[in-house]
Amino acid sequence: MEQEKITTAKTAETEKTAKISKKRILSGIQPSGDLTLGSYLGAIRNWAALADEYDCYYMLADLHTLTVRQVPAELRRHTLTQVAAYIACGLDPEKNVLFVQSHVPAHAQLGWVLDCYTMFGELSRMTQFKDKSAKNADNINAGLFTYPALMAADILLYQADLVPVGGDQKQHVEICRDIASRFNGIYGDVFKIPEPYIPQVGARVMSLTSPESKMSKSDKDPNGCVYMLEKPEDIARKFKKAVTDSDASVRFDPAGKPGVSNLMQIYAAATGRTFEAIEAEFAGRGYGDFKKTVGDAVVELLRPIREETEHLLADKAYLEGVYRAGAERAAYTANRTLSKVFKKVGLLAR
Ligand code: TRP
Repeated sequence: MEQEKITTAKTAETEKTAKISKKRILSGIQPSGDLTLGSYLGAIRNWAALADEYDCYYMLADLHTLTVRQVPAELRRHTLTQVAAYIACGLDPEKNVLFVQSHVPAHAQLGWVLDCYTMFGELSRMTQFKDKSAKNADNINAGLFTYPALMAADILLYQADLVPVGGDQKQHVEICRDIASRFNGIYGDVFKIPEPYIPQVGARVMSLTSPESKMSKSDKDPNGCVYMLEKPEDIARKFKKAVTDSDASVRFDPAGKPGVSNLMQIYAAATGRTFEAIEAEFAGRGYGDFKKTVGDAVVELLRPIREETEHLLADKAYLEGVYRAGAERAAYTANRTLSKVFKKVGLLAR
């Protein structure tokens, strides 16, 4: 009995040490709409595989969505659905900290402090700011401009080592590093300088109708974007309409054949097949056949996730428990960094 107790204590100690030495990951997606096939294949699916090796924090960046006008009830619905979808995609809430950004006030608090250490000039050079202000010419608000400082706060609060992001977000991780180094340069080593982390596996999924641009929920053509929780018949229809070319051969060539190559990427990600195997499978067959097969594969890939998400959404109390516990765990880590920052800059302790 006594022996058993000692062993248990030892295991707990080892686990604690392991936890401390594990590298930390933070990432997030804005709940500004329904999750896309692109965010599943390019991000969330890979996150689930990281839980054993890393100490993982995954956020729903709801504060960031306010930079573009949202319909309040829709934002709430998207946020809750995204919590359920994270879990349905395999993010175990026991092994990962899943939380909603606005539930941890430290984000807004550190965001403000970092606003004061971020330069007008560097914010003006951000590609996303330029793109988004072109798209929302009637609402170029201050939040859209300072968005990167809030995102830097998201990352730095957790002393994250790695930030899994797609290529379009790399510039945000760069500016976060610049802000952190600037701050550390003045006050000493307050922040861990994070690295962008591009997982080895994972696809960059492009729009089905304009395969030169990333698949995105803000795509103007609704047929360009497939949603994770979409009905099978709608998914199948979108793949049938996908843009290809006049060459009639299934061959991987992203520059010359962007539409077909994108479909191959998706098919490879959905089935685990290699490009060579896919080329062989469709040799001598038409695009119609190819597009139908890819569509069916995606339907089957997403079916269990949609079903599990719907199942979880029926249990609001469970989901509430998950995001509350997540917020508590996240706040614990975040507040430690925030207190340090407040102290360093000279704010009087309460
Ligand atoms: N800007 C990210 C996007 O639009 C979302 C985001 C907000 C994020 N905070 C983050 C991503 C922190 C990684 C880390 O995709």
